[in-house]
Amino acid sequence: MLNFATQIAREAGNLLVQKLGSAKITTKGDINLVTEADIAAENLIIERIRSYYPQHGILAEESGESILIAGKRSEWKWIIDPLDGTTNYAHGYPCFCVSIALEHLGQLEIGVVYDPMRDEMFAAERGQGATLNDRRIRVSSVDELNQSMLCTGFPYNVRERPDFARDFTKFTMNAQAVRRDGSAALDLAYVACGRFDGFWEDGLSPWDIAAGALLIFEARGKVTNFKDEPLDIYNEQVLATNGLIHDTMMHIINH
Ligand code: IPD
Ligand code: CA
Ligand code: CA
Repeated sequence: MLNFATQIAREAGNLLVQKLGSAKITTKGDINLVTEADIAAENLIIERIRSYYPQHGILAEESGESILIAGKRSEWKWIIDPLDGTTNYAHGYPCFCVSIALEHLGQLEIGVVYDPMRDEMFAAERGQGATLNDRRIRVSSVDELNQSMLCTGFPYNVRERPDFARDFTKFTMNAQAVRRDGSAALDLAYVACGRFDGFWEDGLSPWDIAAGALLIFEARGKVTNFKDEPLDIYNEQVLATNGLIHDTMMHIINH
C-alpha cells in the first residue's frame, strides 16, 4: 500500500506542476484560496483509491469525508491534502506538496508527502522507518534552541488569532532562525529529515498533519499538542521537533 500511496502522490504532484501558472483560482471565504489544480489532483487521488480500495473511507480537504461504505463505517481512512501550500502555488512560489496518509482503526499506518518541484518523495510506514527518495531519514541532533532552525505557519484566520505573533517573536529572539514556508505538510517532512529542528502551528486540519506526523514518528522525532499531550490529528495544534528541543519549545509556547 505504501507503493500505491507514493505512486498516486507522484501522479497528483505532476498534475499540479502541469497546471502551475495556468490553474484558475477562486476563494473560499476571505483569504483561503482553492485552485482548479486542488480539485483536479484530489479527483485523481480519490478515483485511484476508489478503484483499488473500494472498501476504504476517505477524508479529503476539498470533498470532505466519506467513511461509510455500504452503510458500514470503514476501518480504513485515507486522509488527503491534494495541494498543501495553495497560496504559494497560486503565486507561483515553488513550495507546495501533495500529502496522503492512511489510518487503520484510528492509527496512522502510512504517510507520504511529495514535493513535485524538487522531486522529493517523503514516505513512511508504521514501524518501518521514514525515507526521502528511498534513503532512510532521521530527525536532527541539535539540542540547543539557539542553534535551531525552526519553522511555523500562520493560520488563515490570522487576524482572529493574534497569539501566533507573540510566539513568533519569542522564537525569533531565541532560535538561530525561524522560517514560514506556507506548506505545513512539507514543513513537517523537513523536521523528519532534519532540515528543520522544530515546527509549531495552531489551527491546522487533519490533512495538513497526518502524513507529516507519521514521517516524524518514524524518523524518531516527537509530535504533541501545545500541552505536551499525544498528538491528535483532529485537534488543531502541533508541536513537532527532533525530541531534543521539545521541552524548551513547549516552555516558550506556554509562558
Ligand atoms: C495551509 C498550509 C499553511 C498553513 C495553513 C494550512 P493549504 O494549507 O499548510 O502552511 O499555515 O494553516 O491551511 O490551504 O495550503 O492546503
Ligand atoms: Ca493544507
Ligand atoms: Ca490544500
